[in-house]
Amino acid sequence: MGRAIAIANQKGGVGKTTTSINLSATLAEKGKKVLVIDTDPQGNTTSGFGLDKNELENTIYELLIGQADVEDVLIKNVVDGLDIIPANVDLAAVEIELIDMEEKEYILKNAIEKIRDNYDFIIIDCPPSLSMLTINAMTTANTVLVPIQCEYYALEGLSQLVRTVNLVKDRLNNELEMEGVIFTMYDSRTNLSLQVVENVKDHINENVYKTIIPRNIRLAEAPSYGIPINLYDTKSAGAVAYRLLADEVIGRKF
Ligand SMILES: Nc1ncnc2c1ncn2[C@@H]1O[C@H](COP(=O)(O)OP(=O)(O)OP(=O)(O)O)[C@@H](O)[C@H]1O
Ligand SMILES: [Mg+2]
Repeated sequence: MGRAIAIANQKGGVGKTTTSINLSATLAEKGKKVLVIDTDPQGNTTSGFGLDKNELENTIYELLIGQADVEDVLIKNVVDGLDIIPANVDLAAVEIELIDMEEKEYILKNAIEKIRDNYDFIIIDCPPSLSMLTINAMTTANTVLVPIQCEYYALEGLSQLVRTVNLVKDRLNNELEMEGVIFTMYDSRTNLSLQVVENVKDHINENVYKTIIPRNIRLAEAPSYGIPINLYDTKSAGAVAYRLLADEVIGRKF
């Protein structure tokens, strides 16, 4: 069976979407069969793969409210070996609609059950909140990967996130594990990035991925062309780093 990884941090702008897009693309490049699930109403992962998010007939929203089957929302081979369940702003309404539903913490898990085994990796991009969407991602996932931006206040909110993961593990998904943390937007020209990495390492007990994602302008540019970094600029520092991360993720067994 494959591994489903929720990319979560309720802090905004830390590199969740950039990591979702480029980790999944580099895993696919290495021959893994990958499903990406966008659970953020911002739909940035969806547009990052070149999809016009406002033109989509079926998205994760229709899937979660039971108006579409998983096969109808799945968009196949957006890049070689990689399928996506897209999202757009329609998803913003789902929190309210989920309130009355039975097993509302497991809607996503149940909805993708029958295609789950088709994949080596399922990468779930979470919104910047600890909402019912993030809970659904964590009940679907085997592990949680937390991107941490190398800046002041990097630790802010991290203990709350770890508490949430533990709560979900205790009450909703006994098998959930921490995949670990991944440092993003590392700027080697400043001491600050280095200090943040050392400081976070001193304060957490989680696995820390050895790969550190550098601040790289190519990573910020690629989404506007609708392609992942390995296709946009295959030799860039960003592409090299995400390939190394993919190797580490593949090598980490649970
Ligand atoms: N390593 C990097 N180098 C340069 N820019 C980056 C890097 N990682 C992310 N960015 C840029 O930083 C911004 C925030 O990144 P991203 O969208 O991945 O964060 P996020 O955690 O998904 O945000 P949100 O919480 O809004 O969903 C984006 O403009 C992105 O292009
Ligand atoms: Mg995002």
